[in-house]
Amino acid sequence: MQPLIYSPDIEVIAPDEARLTEEIVEQMAASARDAYERHRHAHRDAHAKSNGILKGELVVHADLPPELAQGIFAAPRTYPVVARLSSAPGDIHTDRIPAPRGFAFKVIGVEGERLTPGIGGANQDFLMVNFPALAFGTIPKYKRMLALLEANAHAPDTFQRLVAGTAHGAKEVLKALGGTAGATLDGLARDNHHPLGETYHTQAALRFGDHVAKLALRPLSDDVRALTGRPVPDTGYAAMRDAVTAHFAHVGAEYELTAQLCVDLARMPVEDASVAWPEDLAPHRPIATLRFAPQDPNSPARLVHGDDVLSFNPWNGVAAHRPLGGIMRIRRAAYERSSAFRHAQNARPRIEPTQFADIPD
Ligand code: HEM
Repeated sequence: MQPLIYSPDIEVIAPDEARLTEEIVEQMAASARDAYERHRHAHRDAHAKSNGILKGELVVHADLPPELAQGIFAAPRTYPVVARLSSAPGDIHTDRIPAPRGFAFKVIGVEGERLTPGIGGANQDFLMVNFPALAFGTIPKYKRMLALLEANAHAPDTFQRLVAGTAHGAKEVLKALGGTAGATLDGLARDNHHPLGETYHTQAALRFGDHVAKLALRPLSDDVRALTGRPVPDTGYAAMRDAVTAHFAHVGAEYELTAQLCVDLARMPVEDASVAWPEDLAPHRPIATLRFAPQDPNSPARLVHGDDVLSFNPWNGVAAHRPLGGIMRIRRAAYERSSAFRHAQNARPRIEPTQFADIPD
C-alpha cells in the first residue's frame, strides 16, 4: 500500500477542544504548584523523575528510499544528541512502582522551517514512552484519566500502576474509565523492566515530510538487547537511575530509530492515539541509529542540567515533523506552561544546546 500523502486536512479539531485544553493545562499546573510547595523545587508536570541524561549521536542511514528520506532524515548525516530518560508520573515516586518510562531526545542543529519560531534554536525533539499507544488517546479521555489520577494521587501504589496501563489488570480499569483496552494493551501488561531494554514509541503521529508516521526506538546492540524483558535490579528508591548509571559505567548502547508510515487513515488514525497502528499494514522501518558511548549519565552537574535547564517538547522542531492529532495539539500549551513554571520557580535559564560542550559531563 502507498504511504499517505500529508495534508493539513487530515487533522480534525473538535468544537470543545480549546476549552478542554485550557482546563487540562490548568489542572496540570495546579498539581505542579502543589508539588512545588512540597519540594520547594519545581519539577516537570509529567515525567518529573529523570533516570539519566545521555550524550550521544544520531546517524541517519544512507540510501534511504524516497518515502523514508524525509524531513531531517532527507540526507545521511550525523547529529549530536542529548537524551533524558524518565519515569512518567508528575511527582517523584519510588521505582518499585511500575510506571511508563520515557525516552526524550534532542537532535542538535537541524535544518528546516521551524514549528515554533523563538524556542528551540535549531533543534528537533522527539519524545517517546515504552508503549505503542496512549490508552487515553483523545483529549476528552485524557481529561477523565487525569482527574482520576489526581484524585488518587495519595494511593499511587495500586491506582497509578493500573491507570498507567502497565500492570496486569489494567484492562478492567481502562474499560471502566473509558480508555481503549485492546489486545495490544492486554498483551503488553508488564512489570518493572530494565529501561534500557525497552522499545519506545511516539504513540501519536507526526508529519514525516511528505507523509505521516509514528516513530519508535528499539534496542539494537547486544548490550541493551540482552536487557529486554529483564526486571530492573531492585536497588531501592532510584533503581532505574542506578541501573542506567551501572550500565554506562562500562558499556555503551545502540538503538535503531524506525518510522511506521501511515497507509490507511481509517485503520491507522491520527486523531485517536489509543490505536496502535497495525504492523501488518505497515511495519516499522529503520531510518537512523542512535549511539551512546560509556559515560556518567547521572553526575550531579549533568542531572541538574537535565532536570532544571533542559526542556524537551514535541513542538520544538521543524514543520516537516509537525505533531499531529488531538493529543499532540494539546501538548503545545501543556509543555510550554510546565517548562515556563519550572524555569521561573527554580530561577534557571532555559537554554537550548547548540553543541555537545553545552551539556556538562
Ligand atoms: C503522545 C503521548 C505522549 C508521550 C509519548 C509523552 C512523552 C513525554 C516525555 C518522554 C516527557 C519527558 C520529557 C523530558 O524528559 O523532558 C514528557 C513530559 C511532559 N509531558 Fe508528555 N507525553 C505524551 C502526552 C502528553 C500529554 C497528552 C500531555 C498533556 C496534555 C503531556 C504533558 C507533559 C508535560 C507537561 C511534560 C513536562 C514538560 C516540561 O516541563 O518540560 N504529555 N512527555
